[in-house]
Amino acid sequence: MKNEMQEDILRVLFTQEEIQNRVNALGAQISGVYQGRTPLFLGVLKGCFVFMADLMRAVSIQCNMDFMAVSSYGNGTSSTGAVRITKDLSRDIEGQDIIIVEDILDSGITLNYLRGYLSTRLPSSIRIVTLLDKPDRRRADIHPDYFGFTVPDEFVVGYGLDYAERYRNLPYIGILKPEVYSS
Ligand code: PRP
Repeated sequence: MKNEMQEDILRVLFTQEEIQNRVNALGAQISGVYQGRTPLFLGVLKGCFVFMADLMRAVSIQCNMDFMAVSSYGNGTSSTGAVRITKDLSRDIEGQDIIIVEDILDSGITLNYLRGYLSTRLPSSIRIVTLLDKPDRRRADIHPDYFGFTVPDEFVVGYGLDYAERYRNLPYIGILKPEVYSS
């Protein structure tokens, strides 16, 4: 059956196979770095869910998982950088190695806030893995420790990333046609 989301995609940026290869490499890299430790992978919902599911199966060390959900005031364009936590950690993280899992690092406002918030809970370390990094849009001083791909400043969807809550289930990452979000 034809994928009905396909016609809204201007161009495929990363195919399913390219993503899978990259995610497997990231999983192996992180497993090497954290060998002998039991880090806590902390997914930031909702966008992380597809990446996190694949990344976790590419990680070969013992680990824990948890999820948080946050929402930015003013659609992430707010100059206050205020972020609201809509789902908090489910347990204490003191003394643990935290790896925050994101689908995309854009302005950095979300992760900058989250990193500060998590620091107050006294983990032993906090690192960031993001599938996509969009450095052209950065407003906060934050960088990923591990990332899958750098992306241009375009509207990207698929593999967990949405436009108006849609396209998250697209199995690849593509650039959305401008007429879809400007109409
Ligand atoms: C996206 C993404 C990050 C954030 C990055 O989430 O998952 O959490 O935006 O943007 P920033 O670097 O500019 O802060 P979004 O708010 O779209 O929610 P979602 O994960 O539910 O799609």
